Amino acid sequence: MADAATWSSKLNIWVTGAGSGIGEALVRRLIAEGHFVIISGRNRAPLLAIQQAAPTRVKVLDCDVGNDQSMVSAASDLQEITDQLDLVIACAGTCEYDEGLTLDIDSYRRVFDANFFGLVNTLRASLPLLGGSRAPVFVAVGSLSSVIGFPRAEAYGASKAAVDYFTQAVRADTSLTSLRTVLVRPGFIDTPLTRKNDFDMPFLMAPEKAAERILSGIKAGRHTIDFPRRLSWPLRLLRFFSPVWFRLIAPRMTRIQKLRKA
Ligand SMILES: NC(=O)c1ccc[n+]([C@@H]2O[C@H](COP(=O)([O-])OP(=O)(O)OC[C@H]3O[C@@H](n4cnc5c(N)ncnc54)[C@H](OP(=O)(O)O)[C@@H]3O)[C@@H](O)[C@H]2O)c1
Repeated sequence: MADAATWSSKLNIWVTGAGSGIGEALVRRLIAEGHFVIISGRNRAPLLAIQQAAPTRVKVLDCDVGNDQSMVSAASDLQEITDQLDLVIACAGTCEYDEGLTLDIDSYRRVFDANFFGLVNTLRASLPLLGGSRAPVFVAVGSLSSVIGFPRAEAYGASKAAVDYFTQAVRADTSLTSLRTVLVRPGFIDTPLTRKNDFDMPFLMAPEKAAERILSGIKAGRHTIDFPRRLSWPLRLLRFFSPVWFRLIAPRMTRIQKLRKA
């Protein structure tokens, strides 16, 4: 897949989280490039609307990536649709902030089900079909939030840190095979997921621009795609000099003034 020759041919691609935001922008570009694209999400309506762009080259596969049973069905549906996948982009995800450190376990499980177990289920469903490709690529969409601990992002950031580790472990485990695993870590992208945020989002980027960054990184053969650099480099530096983050910056961001009493 890294070589230009592979990208010049038409690929079989599966994208989860395809109904909106980054996933939709990726799919629209992939359709425009002439590929065969299977698009997934829980709601069929937005997927059917996207399919209109190229009805014969786009297949709708609705599934809930965090639901194991749904993903067992999705795996067999995938095998009905195609006998080979060249590229899988696991983009489905959700965000719930922990306001006031409530540690609401149901919220944490919802976030981990979609963001982490959804990723595991997506790889499980697609791995046999990736095995049929000459140069298969599996892309996991994480987040720059996993670089350092953000206030209120205990559940979301932890689920994305799990995505980082899982992707690296899969990369290590498949290092003798032709599979390339790619970790994508976007900063703030203007999508339905971030439109509910009530705080300033530095360097907010359009989903179309994010899709362009992701696809050019995949085509260039990269294993990690962090963007925008204006955000990723300062965050990496702050991770290195973490006292600056925890003593100077985090206190300005947290909304917790004192701990709750029993
Ligand atoms: N926007 C950002 O600033 C940002 C930054 C870093 C990382 N990310 C990551 O980028 C990915 C895409 O997010 P986005 O910003 O494009 O948000 P979005 O527009 O809300 O897209 C998320 C998509 O995932 C689907 N989805 C959610 N839960 C699902 C589930 N259990 N099973 C199947 N599909 C599910 C949703 O469709 P249905 O509701 O129809 O299922 C939706 O289309 C996420 O993994 C997110 O964490 C986003």
